[in-house]
Amino acid sequence: MCGIFACVGAADATGQVLQGLHDLEYRGYDSAGIAAQSGDGLVVLRREGKIRQLAEALETTPVSSSCAVGHTRWATHGRPSDDNSHPHRSCDGTVAVVHNGIVENYAALKSQLAGAGHTFASETDTEVIAHLLEERVREGEDLLMALRSITPRLEGSQAIAAISTAEPDTVVATRVGNAGGVVVGRSDRALYVSSDLAALLPHTRSVAFLHDGDFVRITPREAAVVRGDGSSSPRPFQEIEADPAAALKGTYSTFMLKEIHEQPEALTDTIQSLVSLDPLEFRMPDLGAAAEGLPSIRRVVLIGMGSSLNAAMIGRQYFERLAGIPAEADNASEFRHRAPVLGPDTLVVSISQSGETVDVLEAMNVAKEAGALQITICNTEGGQTTRVAEGTVYTRAGLERGVASTKCYVAAVAALNVLALHVGQLQGHLAAEDLRPHIAALVRLPGLVGKVLAERVGVDEAVLELSTATDAFFLGRGLAFPVAMEGALKLKEISYIHAEGYAAGEMKHGPIALIESNFATVAIAPKHALRTKMISNIEQVQARGGRVIAVITEGDSEITELADQVLPIPDAGPWLEPIVANVPLQLLAYDVATARGFDVDQPRNLAKTVTVE
Ligand code: G6P
Repeated sequence: MCGIFACVGAADATGQVLQGLHDLEYRGYDSAGIAAQSGDGLVVLRREGKIRQLAEALETTPVSSSCAVGHTRWATHGRPSDDNSHPHRSCDGTVAVVHNGIVENYAALKSQLAGAGHTFASETDTEVIAHLLEERVREGEDLLMALRSITPRLEGSQAIAAISTAEPDTVVATRVGNAGGVVVGRSDRALYVSSDLAALLPHTRSVAFLHDGDFVRITPREAAVVRGDGSSSPRPFQEIEADPAAALKGTYSTFMLKEIHEQPEALTDTIQSLVSLDPLEFRMPDLGAAAEGLPSIRRVVLIGMGSSLNAAMIGRQYFERLAGIPAEADNASEFRHRAPVLGPDTLVVSISQSGETVDVLEAMNVAKEAGALQITICNTEGGQTTRVAEGTVYTRAGLERGVASTKCYVAAVAALNVLALHVGQLQGHLAAEDLRPHIAALVRLPGLVGKVLAERVGVDEAVLELSTATDAFFLGRGLAFPVAMEGALKLKEISYIHAEGYAAGEMKHGPIALIESNFATVAIAPKHALRTKMISNIEQVQARGGRVIAVITEGDSEITELADQVLPIPDAGPWLEPIVANVPLQLLAYDVATARGFDVDQPRNLAKTVTVE
């Protein structure tokens, strides 16, 4: 979480850093700050709240500088406030630091530093880094050497950038562990450091990625990368083709709405890149070394967090039911601490749109050590998960900026469907003629999603129904159970209505006790998802005074009569139904949240990319 951006060499480095922070704001928006070399000293400006507060402060107090670092914060240690905002300075004010990650032993370091006379101005873990650097610089080390000296003392994963008054036009940075990427950019007028690639693209397409344990010093003309022992570690610059225009909202009022409406395109691009109907073939060039192992795998473990975990739950059923392979889905943050039993015949499929989620990366390291074969489903070219796994299946959803995942989620589910079909064929479980209807269904899918988006049948009525609720259950069975989980996640994360997804069969074992008139139930009951049993659930809720919104297959008159509101979807067939059923739930969550006046792109307390554990 948290975003770091630095610029060296441009006359308006502070302006460029501010723009970089705007582009990184999805990573956290509790506060923002900037430190710039100016004259003989450092000017530091920090504001609680979103980047616009910092931008206003910079308008009132312009800072002219050719060397600046900036930060947008998702608070971990210390509440959001001006004092806890980054950059943090050393006692003597000569060093300023921005940081992404957690210094897990900060309390011990803080007390040692306090014992040595350092005074602290914030409640953060980050501030110890500034004081530690100051000590090394005072000992005569240059800033890069100082960073190399202190990093082994910091427990946990870190990305750090720092500047000092002693070294004009110089930024140093490092990446240790999986706290998120550090990308260096080079244009003909400046060099940059950024937490992600997308924030660099408005400035340059020439980029180099730091590896775990790299340290970099950037000056207006060069970037020199070394390892912790000081040995040179060249990281060549590569040219990126991605289009920065993809990061604009266009005619939409929010990124989330734009991304919801981009789903047909995201699905088309993803599906077309992976499979073709005529000739019938799978195209997965990025599977690399993983391809060889697929015919002999005997078990699949899917891992992810958030919406990607919900996609994993659907993927699990694809592998079991389409490929005939035992499969399970697991929360990456639990999996990694459980000493899971894995072996070379286990395929671990990680799902991460960003490729940066720290719990997923740590879980992948566990799987690597256990010798499992790994494939990652990722939406970010060169994302960190793609560097750990033997093979990658890229989704082609384009950049997703809304914190609540929409188009990347559906693209990941579609990619899982294709991967399971491919593995099913490789293992001899599916013959070519079995594949044809599946692929035909994939080809039809974007059009069906587009139909739901265009027609919005029942959405306005369901929004009215849900707007007055204080709580909501989302219930589903089979492939609709993960749909219920994802529907509840979307509603709670952007509208702040308490919502829980449940396997509908579990309802009678406790949750039903909560049903009353203001506790809404959204039943996912389309025709392929154990519809008859869902009808019983709907009746049980209504018998206790609860009101029900049901996702149904178009033309289902029985549930239309029974439920209080319905959200009809076209029939996408049994396997892709969960993708289509998800769409009205996105619209529902979106409209409820906007009706309640909330910022859907930046919901409170959340961040798009979670690089802390
Ligand atoms: C955060 C985001 C979610 C996302 C999850 C996993 O919680 O708010 O939208 O699903 O991270 O992200 P990943 O990049 O690993 O898919």
